[in-house]
Amino acid sequence: MSSKTIFILNGPNLNLLGKRQPEIYGHDTLEDVERNCAAVAAEAGFEVALFQSNYEGGIVELIHRARDEACAIVINPGAYTHTSIAILDALNAFEGPVFECHISNVHKRESFRHHSYVSLRADGVMAGFGVEGYALCVRRACSVLAG
Ligand code: DQA
Repeated sequence: MSSKTIFILNGPNLNLLGKRQPEIYGHDTLEDVERNCAAVAAEAGFEVALFQSNYEGGIVELIHRARDEACAIVINPGAYTHTSIAILDALNAFEGPVFECHISNVHKRESFRHHSYVSLRADGVMAGFGVEGYALCVRRACSVLAG
């Protein structure tokens, strides 16, 4: 795992970030997220690659790709957080640090959002920090990777 690239993976509906329920998810887009995270990573000598898929299998395949191409994963699996054992299994096959990021505070919302399969693997969990949470996860990933 010699890569200096942190994968930022996003699940279903997050392609609509900035347009979808802005009262919950804000006005920033995934492009804004990528730009902010890239700046934070660059300060520590890392880079980021951001992906989004509306398909569970698409996210699983991106996690497989991370095995060869990424040193850490920041993941917002969207609604799959609460349902996907397949994503948990894929993350368990990734050796680097994993940080789970939710824009909203899922614990303040419906009870079906309170359980996360991904948290069984995540080294850290961010919820309710808006899109800033992604950059905070990237910062943490950089410091963990730097040892
Ligand atoms: C989310 C929270 C999930 O419950 C929801 O299904 C999402 C986004 C968040 O970022 O707050 O799609 O992961």
